[in-house]
Amino acid sequence: MKLLKERIMRDGKCFEGGILKVDSFINHQMDPILMKSIAVEFVRRFASTDINKIITIEASGIAPAIMTGYLLELPVVFAKKKKPVTMENMLTTTVYSFTKNRNYDICVSKDFLRKGDHVLFIDDFLANGNAAKGIIDLVNQAGATLAGMGFIIEKAFQHGGEYLRNAGVRVESLAIIDSLDNCEIKIR
Ligand code: G4P
Ligand code: NA
Ligand code: NA
Repeated sequence: MKLLKERIMRDGKCFEGGILKVDSFINHQMDPILMKSIAVEFVRRFASTDINKIITIEASGIAPAIMTGYLLELPVVFAKKKKPVTMENMLTTTVYSFTKNRNYDICVSKDFLRKGDHVLFIDDFLANGNAAKGIIDLVNQAGATLAGMGFIIEKAFQHGGEYLRNAGVRVESLAIIDSLDNCEIKIR
């Protein structure tokens, strides 16, 4: 997606350890016009796919997910990172975050992820794919079907995309970063 790649090259900042900061338009301040274009592109790429619900993880996935859900006129459910007081009726799984070097739980109500659902997962970043693996686990627990996964930015030097595609998941990433070595952004 040309517009997105240009924006990353212009405003993205490279940090030690292969981290791309996009705080001025995705992760802190958000650009709704760009976010709408991102959603239009997700809709185009998944046009022929049977989807009845969008799923994401709080917090940064919510913006692209709600825009996509708005365009498709479909509900958007976000997996929560904080366990609710009562865990009954919740599906949960544990995700390892390599950026934070710790485990966290994500959960979603059985009321909002069910057998028969065809869900599209939308998120901001695909790195090692641990969050995505957590979503696959929740989808499987629910007996739902994963229709595909759409990411704004995929970091190809971490191997989440490779893992997911090899597992047969339809993955669409709007910008693919091949390298952030020497703090230089190399975009495909
Ligand atoms: P993984 O799911 O692909 O394995 O990645 P990881 O555990 O490292 O992701 C942890 C968090 O860091 C996620 O957000 C993810 O979106 C984000 N992330 C991963 N790589 C980058 C990067 O290069 N730049 C930026 N800006 N974010 C990255 P999160 O902690 O769940 O936070 P939230 O922002 O969604 O609340
Ligand atoms: Na995220
Ligand atoms: Na994030």
